[in-house]
This record gives sequence, C-alpha cells and structure tokens, in this order.
Amino acid sequence: MPRIVIGNWKMHTTRDDAVALAKGLVEGLGEVNGSLCVGVAPPFCFLEAVGHTLAGSSIELVAQDVHSEPKGAFTSGVSTSMLASLGVNRVIVGHSERRKIFGDDDAMVAAKLRATLNEGMDAVLCVGEQLSQREAGEHQAVVRAQLEASLDGLSDEQLARVTVAYEPVWAIGTGVTATPAQAGEMHEFIGGLLKGDIAILYGGSVKPDNAAELVATPGIDGFLVGGASLKADSFLQIVKSCAGLADARS
Ligand code: PGA
Repeated sequence: MPRIVIGNWKMHTTRDDAVALAKGLVEGLGEVNGSLCVGVAPPFCFLEAVGHTLAGSSIELVAQDVHSEPKGAFTSGVSTSMLASLGVNRVIVGHSERRKIFGDDDAMVAAKLRATLNEGMDAVLCVGEQLSQREAGEHQAVVRAQLEASLDGLSDEQLARVTVAYEPVWAIGTGVTATPAQAGEMHEFIGGLLKGDIAILYGGSVKPDNAAELVATPGIDGFLVGGASLKADSFLQIVKSCAGLADARS
C-alpha cells in the first residue's frame, strides 16, 4: 500500500502564497515514485489556482471539506460536483475543527463521505478523541463510534476509496504529538475494525523531526499534516521521511 502524505493548509495563505507554496512543492518533490502519494488541501478559493500549478505533477489536489447536498440554496456551500470540476480527486471529511467549530456531527460527516464517494472522488475520513475522553479511557470507544457512524453500509468498492486519518484532538496544532506507542496502539485498533486494505494516516503536530519515527511505527501509513505543511521545506522533509529518503537536515 502506498504511503500517503496530505498537507491541510486550513484557513491560511493568500492566492499568491498558495501558488508559491504549490510551486515550491512541485519543484522540490520532482517525481514521486509509486509507493508514495502526496496531496495538498488549499482553501476552496485557491483550489483552481493551485490546481493549475500542480498540473502535470504527481501532487494531488485535495479539498478540506464539502457540502453533502448536490446543489441548491445552501449559501457558501461547495458541492462535490464543483470540486470534481476543479480537478479535486480527494476530499477530507470529519476534520475535528469541522466537528467542533462548525458543528459537523456524525450524520453530516457520513453524508459528506457518501456524497464524495458517489461523485467518484476518494475521501479522507478524520477520527480522533478529545483529551478528556482519552483520560477517561474512552478513546477507542469514541473512535470506533465515529468510524461505524460513517463507514457502516458502504460497499467494498466505496470502502476501498476511503483513507482514515487518526487525529487525536489534543495533538492538533498543539505541538504535542501522540507518542509512537499511543499512535501505534490506536492504528492497530482501527486496523482491526476495518475490513480490507484501508490506509490509516496519523495527524497531530507532525513535524520534520518526528515524522520518521512515527512513520516507522507499524500501522501508520502516512500523515495528515497541518502547520508543518505551510512551508515547502518542512512539508518536503516530512514527505521524504515517508519515502525513506530523509536527508540529514532536521
Ligand atoms: P497540525 O494539524 O499538524 O497543525 O497539528 C493537523 C491537522 O489538523 O490535520
């Protein structure tokens, strides 16, 4: 299974920043071999510009979110067909910031996932527990419930186009990374719940200096990277550690 590394730019960059960052990645990455899949998720409004910059490269255009309805009076909504028409081939659903700040509940996440898959795009389904839930020993139950709510009822063909991202909420943007032991335990747990060969990414304060150790942990198939994806240099270092090509810089 190829390692997958996706940079989630969240609500960062201007148009010029986004294009410059994409250019830096295209130039720095060169040809990605078949065992590595690299993607970036710019803000919606820069998808088209970044898509042009990525054209002809092996870097995938990813969306940070989507609306579950195909069209209609949903002011500010962005539908799956809109994304597909811009060349997006993968959509992130259920990110913890969407769940917490924008109120995406399990039913909405499941609907977004289905809409994405029905449009023919791949999906990254984010799951992860809050710190209080981990401290109460509920982390596995929380993640299991999130997975079941979204994945139950999908066909094998649809499941094959889903990647799961385990992102403990307490590790996102905090500088606190799950230890390889904590991440490895959860990845093994998730792997045991999923049928088939589904990639499981880790996300939460992934940096150039912890990526190599994390990706060497059994069960971790790649990363969803936030803050460290906003600089070409640090994102490329993370990508290279996944390709086993890490250079000496840290
Ligand atoms: P972070 O974000 O790398 O800044 O912690 C990860 C994410 O939200 O996907």
